[in-house]
Amino acid sequence: MNLHDFDELEREAVYRVIAERRDMRHFLPDPVDPVVFKRLLAAAHQAPSVGLMQPWRFIRITDSRLRSALVSLVEEERIRTAGALVERGDEFMRLKVDGIQECGELLVAALGDQREQHIFGRRTLPEMDLASVACAIQNLWLAARAEGLGMGWVSLFDPVQLAQLLHMPAGSKPVAILCLGHVAAFYPAPMLKLAGWADERPLDELVFHNTWGGSET
Ligand SMILES: Cc1cc2nc3c(=O)[nH]c(=O)nc-3n(C[C@H](O)[C@H](O)[C@H](O)COP(=O)(O)O)c2cc1C
Repeated sequence: MNLHDFDELEREAVYRVIAERRDMRHFLPDPVDPVVFKRLLAAAHQAPSVGLMQPWRFIRITDSRLRSALVSLVEEERIRTAGALVERGDEFMRLKVDGIQECGELLVAALGDQREQHIFGRRTLPEMDLASVACAIQNLWLAARAEGLGMGWVSLFDPVQLAQLLHMPAGSKPVAILCLGHVAAFYPAPMLKLAGWADERPLDELVFHNTWGGSET
């Protein structure tokens, strides 16, 4: 208990949304309420960003031909990824890795152009712009879950081809295709875990003390 904490129910809601957010690949085709959609974008836009550069750009895809083009781009990359995975390629091809075709709203999240002007916090770590976009996407993801909507982050695409398709300026870069919409049910655990592709590691394997790998003494 301290002067600034939220009350118990509010705290529970925050931890619940974090625990119950899932990367969704199955969607219902129902439209997303435009008022809710605006709230989600506003939540994304409140994210922290390095030097307050706000490098995120969101492109809403409403043209059905563009949606189909995105489906094709992801399919091409899915096949290339399967090839790179060699012995797990067939298993990978059986996974559902996106819901682009059926989700109610489709967004491309991108890094804006002229980012080289922003040096604060990026001189030694220029990738902090990408970290900032990821913060915005996570805000969107959590807010969507609280609104009862699912979101899926898709990174299986060639960014150069996607940038061309969306007429993006030189220096900008698409980093995520975001599928957003109503779902029949949220997966009870990461879908990749349910599908037997990968398992989560426990937190204590990833927290060190004083030096890399150091344990608590
Ligand atoms: C940066 C990033 C890129 C991702 N790209 C994909 C993707 O291309 N296809 C996909 O099916 N899932 C993608 N995911 C979702 C992860 O597979 C998912 O977050 C992870 O398996 C844990 O599941 P959960 O989000 O339901 O907890 C991505 C997630 C992140 C954070």
